[in-house]
Amino acid sequence: MINRNKSLIMAFGLLLLLIIVGFDVMKEKEKSTVYLKDALQDKFYIGTALNTDQIMGRDTAAMQVVKHHFNAIVAENCMKSANIQPREGVFNFNFSDRFVAFGEAQNMFINGHTLIWHSQAPKWFFTDQNGNDVSRDVLIQRMKDHITTVVGRYKGRVHTWDVVNEAILDDGSFRRSKFYEIIGEEFISLAFQFAHEADPQARLYYNDYSMSNPGKRAGVVALVKKLMAAGIPIDGVGMQAHIGLDHPSLLDFEQSLQAFADLGVKVSITELDLTVLPSTWKNRGAEVSDQYEYQKQMNPYAEQLPDSISKSFHERYEAFFKLFLKHQQHIERVTLWGVNDGHSWRNNWPVRGRTDYPLLFDRQNHAKPIVLSIIQIANP
Ligand code: XIL
Repeated sequence: MINRNKSLIMAFGLLLLLIIVGFDVMKEKEKSTVYLKDALQDKFYIGTALNTDQIMGRDTAAMQVVKHHFNAIVAENCMKSANIQPREGVFNFNFSDRFVAFGEAQNMFINGHTLIWHSQAPKWFFTDQNGNDVSRDVLIQRMKDHITTVVGRYKGRVHTWDVVNEAILDDGSFRRSKFYEIIGEEFISLAFQFAHEADPQARLYYNDYSMSNPGKRAGVVALVKKLMAAGIPIDGVGMQAHIGLDHPSLLDFEQSLQAFADLGVKVSITELDLTVLPSTWKNRGAEVSDQYEYQKQMNPYAEQLPDSISKSFHERYEAFFKLFLKHQQHIERVTLWGVNDGHSWRNNWPVRGRTDYPLLFDRQNHAKPIVLSIIQIANP
Protein backbone atom coordinates (compact mmCIF):
# COMPACT_ATOMS: atom_id res chain seq x y z
CA MET A 1 0.00 0.00 0.00
CA ILE A 2 2.78 2.39 1.01
CA ASN A 3 4.70 1.47 -2.13
CA ARG A 4 1.64 2.03 -4.26
CA ASN A 5 1.13 5.48 -2.76
CA LYS A 6 4.77 6.30 -3.32
CA SER A 7 4.53 5.33 -6.99
CA LEU A 8 1.37 7.34 -7.38
CA ILE A 9 2.97 10.40 -5.84
CA MET A 10 6.04 9.94 -8.06
CA ALA A 11 3.89 9.54 -11.15
CA PHE A 12 1.90 12.61 -10.22
CA GLY A 13 5.11 14.57 -9.57
CA LEU A 14 6.49 13.53 -12.94
CA LEU A 15 3.31 14.60 -14.67
CA LEU A 16 3.43 17.98 -12.96
CA LEU A 17 7.04 18.42 -13.97
CA LEU A 18 6.22 17.58 -17.58
CA ILE A 19 3.39 20.07 -17.58
CA ILE A 20 5.59 22.82 -16.14
CA VAL A 21 8.45 22.10 -18.56
CA GLY A 22 6.02 21.90 -21.46
CA PHE A 23 4.48 25.21 -20.48
CA ASP A 24 7.87 26.85 -20.23
CA VAL A 25 8.89 25.53 -23.62
CA MET A 26 5.64 26.87 -25.06
CA LYS A 27 6.23 30.25 -23.46
CA GLU A 28 9.81 30.35 -24.75
CA LYS A 29 8.56 29.44 -28.18
CA GLU A 30 5.91 32.07 -28.00
CA LYS A 31 8.49 34.60 -26.88
CA SER A 32 10.93 33.81 -29.63
CA THR A 33 8.61 33.35 -32.56
CA VAL A 34 6.05 36.09 -32.18
CA TYR A 35 7.37 39.45 -33.14
CA LEU A 36 6.00 42.92 -32.65
CA LYS A 37 5.86 43.70 -36.35
CA ASP A 38 3.77 40.61 -37.07
CA ALA A 39 1.43 41.24 -34.17
CA LEU A 40 0.92 44.84 -35.26
CA GLN A 41 0.66 44.11 -38.96
CA ASP A 42 -2.36 45.87 -40.52
CA LYS A 43 -2.45 48.24 -37.53
CA PHE A 44 0.55 50.54 -37.85
CA TYR A 45 4.25 50.28 -38.56
CA ILE A 46 6.38 49.62 -35.50
CA GLY A 47 9.77 51.28 -35.68
CA THR A 48 13.01 52.00 -33.91
CA ALA A 49 15.75 54.60 -34.10
CA LEU A 50 19.18 53.35 -35.17
CA ASN A 51 22.48 54.74 -33.91
CA THR A 52 25.64 54.72 -36.00
CA ASP A 53 27.01 51.50 -34.45
CA GLN A 54 23.89 49.74 -35.58
CA ILE A 55 23.80 51.38 -38.98
CA MET A 56 27.40 50.35 -39.61
CA GLY A 57 26.58 46.78 -38.59
CA ARG A 58 28.85 46.74 -35.54
CA ASP A 59 26.10 46.08 -33.00
CA THR A 60 24.97 42.77 -34.46
CA ALA A 61 22.96 41.67 -31.40
CA ALA A 62 20.78 44.76 -31.51
CA MET A 63 20.39 44.39 -35.26
CA GLN A 64 18.90 40.94 -34.75
CA VAL A 65 16.22 42.54 -32.57
CA VAL A 66 15.64 45.19 -35.21
CA LYS A 67 15.24 42.65 -38.00
CA HIS A 68 12.88 40.47 -35.96
CA HIS A 69 10.64 42.96 -34.28
CA PHE A 70 10.58 46.17 -36.29
CA ASN A 71 9.43 47.11 -39.77
CA ALA A 72 10.26 50.83 -39.66
CA ILE A 73 13.49 52.72 -39.00
CA VAL A 74 14.69 56.25 -38.40
CA ALA A 75 18.26 57.45 -37.95
CA GLU A 76 18.86 58.74 -34.42
CA ASN A 77 21.46 61.34 -35.44
CA CYS A 78 23.18 60.82 -38.78
CA MET A 79 20.67 62.67 -40.94
CA LYS A 80 20.60 65.83 -38.82
CA SER A 81 22.04 68.83 -40.60
CA ALA A 82 25.22 69.13 -38.47
CA ASN A 83 26.09 65.53 -39.33
CA ILE A 84 24.97 65.31 -42.93
CA GLN A 85 26.27 68.74 -44.04
CA PRO A 86 28.99 69.65 -41.52
CA ARG A 87 30.42 72.33 -43.83
CA GLU A 88 28.66 74.25 -46.53
CA GLY A 89 28.40 72.07 -49.60
CA VAL A 90 30.27 69.18 -47.93
CA PHE A 91 27.92 66.32 -47.32
CA ASN A 92 28.59 63.15 -45.37
CA PHE A 93 26.34 60.42 -46.69
CA ASN A 94 28.38 57.47 -45.34
CA PHE A 95 25.95 56.67 -42.58
CA SER A 96 22.71 57.73 -44.22
CA ASP A 97 23.45 55.70 -47.37
CA ARG A 98 23.99 52.60 -45.23
CA PHE A 99 20.89 53.38 -43.20
CA VAL A 100 18.63 53.67 -46.26
CA ALA A 101 20.19 50.61 -47.93
CA PHE A 102 19.58 48.55 -44.78
CA GLY A 103 15.93 49.63 -44.64
CA GLU A 104 15.43 48.77 -48.30
CA ALA A 105 17.13 45.38 -47.96
CA GLN A 106 14.79 44.58 -45.05
CA ASN A 107 11.78 46.00 -46.84
CA MET A 108 11.22 48.51 -44.06
CA PHE A 109 9.37 51.78 -43.81
CA ILE A 110 12.02 54.51 -43.74
CA ASN A 111 11.64 57.88 -42.05
CA GLY A 112 14.11 60.71 -42.60
CA HIS A 113 14.89 62.72 -39.47
CA THR A 114 15.16 65.68 -39.78
CA LEU A 115 15.58 68.44 -42.37
CA ILE A 116 15.04 71.76 -40.59
CA TRP A 117 15.73 71.86 -36.85
CA HIS A 118 17.42 74.56 -34.76
CA SER A 119 19.31 71.91 -32.76
CA GLN A 120 22.21 69.87 -34.11
CA ALA A 121 22.39 72.39 -36.93
CA PRO A 122 25.87 73.57 -37.93
CA LYS A 123 26.81 77.15 -37.12
CA TRP A 124 27.76 77.93 -40.69
CA PHE A 125 24.13 77.50 -41.73
CA PHE A 126 23.17 80.85 -40.21
CA THR A 127 26.35 82.90 -40.42
CA ASP A 128 28.67 84.53 -42.96
CA GLN A 129 32.52 84.50 -42.96
CA ASN A 130 32.55 87.20 -40.29
CA GLY A 131 30.24 85.30 -37.99
CA ASN A 132 27.29 87.63 -38.62
CA ASP A 133 23.80 86.39 -39.38
CA VAL A 134 23.22 85.83 -43.08
CA SER A 135 20.42 87.60 -44.92
CA ARG A 136 16.94 86.14 -45.33
CA ASP A 137 17.62 85.30 -48.98
CA VAL A 138 20.87 83.51 -48.17
CA LEU A 139 19.28 81.42 -45.43
CA ILE A 140 16.37 80.46 -47.70
CA GLN A 141 18.85 79.45 -50.39
CA ARG A 142 20.82 77.36 -47.88
CA MET A 143 17.65 75.68 -46.70
CA LYS A 144 16.73 74.94 -50.28
CA ASP A 145 20.15 73.52 -51.14
CA HIS A 146 20.18 71.38 -48.02
CA ILE A 147 16.69 69.97 -48.50
CA THR A 148 17.05 69.50 -52.25
CA THR A 149 20.33 67.63 -51.87
CA VAL A 150 19.31 65.39 -48.98
CA VAL A 151 15.75 64.59 -50.04
CA GLY A 152 16.82 64.36 -53.68
CA ARG A 153 19.49 61.80 -52.88
CA TYR A 154 16.91 59.43 -51.39
CA LYS A 155 14.08 60.24 -53.76
CA GLY A 156 11.56 57.41 -53.91
CA ARG A 157 13.38 55.55 -51.13
CA VAL A 158 12.55 57.46 -47.94
CA HIS A 159 8.82 57.19 -47.24
CA THR A 160 8.34 60.07 -44.80
CA TRP A 161 10.41 63.07 -43.78
CA ASP A 162 10.31 65.04 -40.53
CA VAL A 163 10.57 68.23 -42.54
CA VAL A 164 10.46 70.66 -39.63
CA ASN A 165 11.23 69.68 -36.04
CA GLU A 166 10.27 71.61 -32.89
CA ALA A 167 9.27 74.99 -34.30
CA ILE A 168 6.47 75.60 -31.77
CA LEU A 169 6.93 76.28 -28.05
CA ASP A 170 4.81 74.88 -25.24
CA ASP A 171 2.60 77.98 -25.19
CA GLY A 172 1.84 77.58 -28.88
CA SER A 173 3.99 80.48 -30.07
CA PHE A 174 6.82 80.17 -32.57
CA ARG A 175 10.23 79.25 -31.21
CA ARG A 176 12.65 82.13 -31.69
CA SER A 177 15.12 79.98 -33.61
CA LYS A 178 17.57 81.37 -36.14
CA PHE A 179 15.27 80.14 -38.90
CA TYR A 180 12.40 82.09 -37.40
CA GLU A 181 14.41 85.18 -36.55
CA ILE A 182 15.98 85.50 -39.99
CA ILE A 183 13.19 84.24 -42.26
CA GLY A 184 10.01 84.54 -40.19
CA GLU A 185 7.35 81.84 -39.91
CA GLU A 186 7.47 81.33 -43.67
CA PHE A 187 10.56 79.17 -43.15
CA ILE A 188 8.15 76.33 -42.37
CA SER A 189 6.06 76.51 -45.54
CA LEU A 190 9.21 76.99 -47.62
CA ALA A 191 10.78 73.87 -46.09
CA PHE A 192 7.74 71.79 -46.97
CA GLN A 193 7.66 73.16 -50.50
CA PHE A 194 11.34 72.45 -51.09
CA ALA A 195 10.94 68.91 -49.75
CA HIS A 196 7.91 68.29 -51.93
CA GLU A 197 9.71 69.54 -55.02
CA ALA A 198 12.67 67.26 -54.28
CA ASP A 199 10.48 64.17 -53.85
CA PRO A 200 6.79 64.58 -54.67
CA GLN A 201 6.08 61.05 -53.46
CA ALA A 202 7.54 61.38 -49.97
CA ARG A 203 5.04 62.12 -47.23
CA LEU A 204 5.92 65.18 -45.20
CA TYR A 205 5.60 65.60 -41.43
CA TYR A 206 5.77 68.31 -38.82
CA ASN A 207 7.33 66.78 -35.66
CA ASP A 208 7.51 68.03 -32.06
CA TYR A 209 7.72 67.07 -28.37
CA SER A 210 5.25 67.78 -25.51
CA MET A 211 2.46 67.51 -28.03
CA SER A 212 -0.06 66.59 -25.32
CA ASN A 213 0.42 70.02 -23.81
CA PRO A 214 -2.78 72.00 -24.64
CA GLY A 215 -0.80 75.12 -25.59
CA LYS A 216 1.42 73.28 -28.00
CA ARG A 217 -1.56 71.34 -29.34
CA ALA A 218 -3.33 74.59 -30.19
CA GLY A 219 -0.21 76.06 -31.79
CA VAL A 220 0.41 73.00 -33.95
CA VAL A 221 -3.25 72.72 -34.97
CA ALA A 222 -3.19 76.39 -36.02
CA LEU A 223 0.05 75.89 -37.93
CA VAL A 224 -1.17 72.83 -39.82
CA LYS A 225 -4.48 74.50 -40.66
CA LYS A 226 -2.65 77.51 -42.02
CA LEU A 227 -0.32 75.37 -44.11
CA MET A 228 -3.20 73.34 -45.50
CA ALA A 229 -5.25 76.45 -46.29
CA ALA A 230 -2.27 77.80 -48.24
CA GLY A 231 -1.98 74.56 -50.20
CA ILE A 232 1.33 73.56 -48.61
CA PRO A 233 1.90 69.80 -48.88
CA ILE A 234 1.80 68.48 -45.31
CA ASP A 235 0.78 64.89 -44.74
CA GLY A 236 1.36 64.20 -41.09
CA VAL A 237 2.05 65.28 -37.54
CA GLY A 238 4.68 63.49 -35.48
CA MET A 239 4.22 63.27 -31.72
CA GLN A 240 7.66 62.54 -30.26
CA ALA A 241 6.32 61.05 -27.00
CA HIS A 242 9.32 61.19 -24.67
CA ILE A 243 7.09 60.32 -21.75
CA GLY A 244 7.42 59.57 -18.03
CA LEU A 245 5.57 57.42 -15.51
CA ASP A 246 3.24 60.22 -14.45
CA HIS A 247 3.32 62.69 -17.31
CA PRO A 248 1.72 63.48 -19.63
CA SER A 249 -1.83 62.46 -18.79
CA LEU A 250 -3.26 59.88 -21.12
CA LEU A 251 -6.27 62.09 -21.66
CA ASP A 252 -4.19 65.08 -22.79
CA PHE A 253 -2.22 62.80 -25.10
CA GLU A 254 -5.40 61.37 -26.59
CA GLN A 255 -6.93 64.80 -27.07
CA SER A 256 -3.90 65.92 -29.05
CA LEU A 257 -3.85 62.76 -31.11
CA GLN A 258 -7.53 63.30 -31.91
CA ALA A 259 -7.04 67.01 -32.63
CA PHE A 260 -4.28 66.25 -35.15
CA ALA A 261 -6.23 63.39 -36.73
CA ASP A 262 -9.26 65.70 -37.06
CA LEU A 263 -7.16 67.92 -39.31
CA GLY A 264 -7.20 65.10 -41.83
CA VAL A 265 -3.47 64.35 -41.61
CA LYS A 266 -1.79 61.15 -40.47
CA VAL A 267 -0.35 60.97 -36.99
CA SER A 268 2.83 59.10 -36.04
CA ILE A 269 4.31 58.47 -32.64
CA THR A 270 7.86 59.22 -33.63
CA GLU A 271 10.24 58.97 -30.64
CA LEU A 272 8.59 56.90 -27.95
CA ASP A 273 10.50 56.26 -24.72
CA LEU A 274 9.38 56.10 -21.10
CA THR A 275 11.77 57.30 -18.43
CA VAL A 276 11.43 55.71 -14.99
CA LEU A 277 13.81 58.19 -13.38
CA PRO A 278 12.80 60.99 -11.04
CA SER A 279 12.48 64.51 -12.33
CA THR A 280 12.24 67.61 -10.22
CA TRP A 281 12.49 69.89 -13.20
CA LYS A 282 9.65 72.00 -14.35
CA ASN A 283 10.30 71.39 -18.00
CA ARG A 284 9.14 67.87 -18.83
CA GLY A 285 9.45 68.06 -22.60
CA ALA A 286 12.44 66.99 -24.63
CA GLU A 287 14.36 70.23 -24.94
CA VAL A 288 17.73 68.83 -25.96
CA SER A 289 19.60 71.88 -24.63
CA ASP A 290 18.32 71.32 -21.06
CA GLN A 291 21.14 69.90 -18.94
CA TYR A 292 21.23 69.58 -15.15
CA GLU A 293 23.98 68.59 -12.79
CA TYR A 294 24.34 64.95 -11.71
CA GLN A 295 23.16 64.15 -8.20
CA LYS A 296 23.27 60.64 -6.78
CA GLN A 297 19.70 60.71 -5.53
CA MET A 298 18.50 61.45 -9.03
CA ASN A 299 19.97 58.14 -10.21
CA PRO A 300 18.23 55.68 -7.87
CA TYR A 301 18.28 52.53 -10.03
CA ALA A 302 21.93 52.39 -11.04
CA GLU A 303 22.10 48.66 -10.20
CA GLN A 304 18.63 47.41 -11.02
CA LEU A 305 15.02 48.39 -11.32
CA PRO A 306 12.76 47.56 -8.35
CA ASP A 307 9.77 45.34 -9.15
CA SER A 308 7.30 48.05 -8.18
CA ILE A 309 8.77 50.40 -10.81
CA SER A 310 8.90 47.66 -13.44
CA LYS A 311 5.22 47.12 -12.79
CA SER A 312 4.38 50.81 -13.24
CA PHE A 313 6.52 50.86 -16.39
CA HIS A 314 4.64 47.87 -17.75
CA GLU A 315 1.20 49.30 -17.00
CA ARG A 316 2.08 52.67 -18.47
CA TYR A 317 3.32 51.19 -21.77
CA GLU A 318 0.23 49.00 -21.91
CA ALA A 319 -2.02 52.01 -21.48
CA PHE A 320 -0.24 53.87 -24.28
CA PHE A 321 -0.32 50.94 -26.69
CA LYS A 322 -4.02 50.45 -25.96
CA LEU A 323 -4.50 54.08 -26.89
CA PHE A 324 -2.48 53.70 -30.10
CA LEU A 325 -4.52 50.64 -31.06
CA LYS A 326 -7.75 52.47 -30.32
CA HIS A 327 -6.69 55.17 -32.79
CA GLN A 328 -4.97 52.87 -35.24
CA GLN A 329 -6.91 54.18 -38.23
CA HIS A 330 -5.14 57.53 -37.80
CA ILE A 331 -1.71 56.25 -36.88
CA GLU A 332 0.84 55.52 -39.57
CA ARG A 333 3.75 54.48 -37.35
CA VAL A 334 4.83 54.05 -33.74
CA THR A 335 8.59 54.34 -33.36
CA LEU A 336 10.69 53.69 -30.27
CA TRP A 337 13.63 56.06 -29.76
CA GLY A 338 16.28 53.33 -29.61
CA VAL A 339 16.52 49.55 -29.54
CA ASN A 340 17.63 48.70 -26.01
CA ASP A 341 17.90 50.54 -22.70
CA GLY A 342 21.67 50.81 -22.98
CA HIS A 343 21.34 52.88 -26.16
CA SER A 344 18.80 55.35 -24.93
CA TRP A 345 19.60 59.06 -24.91
CA ARG A 346 17.60 59.22 -21.69
CA ASN A 347 20.60 57.83 -19.80
CA ASN A 348 22.20 61.20 -20.52
CA TRP A 349 19.34 63.63 -20.77
CA PRO A 350 18.58 65.89 -19.00
CA VAL A 351 21.33 64.68 -16.65
CA ARG A 352 24.44 62.88 -17.86
CA GLY A 353 25.43 59.48 -16.52
CA ARG A 354 22.18 58.06 -15.13
CA THR A 355 20.84 54.54 -15.65
CA ASP A 356 17.40 54.57 -17.23
CA TYR A 357 15.14 51.79 -18.52
CA PRO A 358 12.91 53.49 -21.09
CA LEU A 359 12.67 51.00 -23.98
CA LEU A 360 11.12 47.62 -24.80
CA PHE A 361 14.37 45.61 -24.73
CA ASP A 362 16.83 45.42 -21.84
CA ARG A 363 20.58 45.99 -22.00
CA GLN A 364 21.13 42.37 -23.06
CA ASN A 365 18.62 42.80 -25.90
CA HIS A 366 16.08 40.60 -24.14
CA ALA A 367 12.45 41.46 -24.70
CA LYS A 368 10.85 42.82 -21.55
CA PRO A 369 7.49 41.31 -20.55
CA ILE A 370 5.81 44.34 -22.08
CA VAL A 371 6.69 43.05 -25.56
CA LEU A 372 4.54 39.98 -25.08
CA SER A 373 1.79 42.10 -23.58
CA ILE A 374 1.74 44.41 -26.61
CA ILE A 375 1.56 41.36 -28.84
CA GLN A 376 -1.39 40.04 -26.84
CA ILE A 377 -3.19 43.37 -26.63
CA ALA A 378 -2.91 43.70 -30.40
CA ASN A 379 -4.43 40.24 -30.91
CA PRO A 380 -7.03 39.73 -28.21
C1 XIL B 1 18.62 63.08 -29.52
C2 XIL B 1 19.53 61.87 -29.71
O1 XIL B 1 18.88 60.73 -29.24
C3 XIL B 1 20.83 62.08 -28.98
O2 XIL B 1 21.75 61.04 -29.29
C4 XIL B 1 21.44 63.43 -29.36
O3 XIL B 1 22.58 63.66 -28.58
C5 XIL B 1 20.46 64.55 -29.13
O4 XIL B 1 19.27 64.28 -29.86
N1 XIL B 1 14.04 65.22 -30.10
C6 XIL B 1 14.48 64.82 -31.33
C7 XIL B 1 15.61 63.88 -31.44
O5 XIL B 1 13.84 65.16 -32.34
O6 XIL B 1 16.37 64.10 -32.59
C8 XIL B 1 16.50 63.95 -30.21
O7 XIL B 1 17.49 62.93 -30.33
C9 XIL B 1 15.69 63.79 -28.96
C10 XIL B 1 14.66 64.87 -28.84
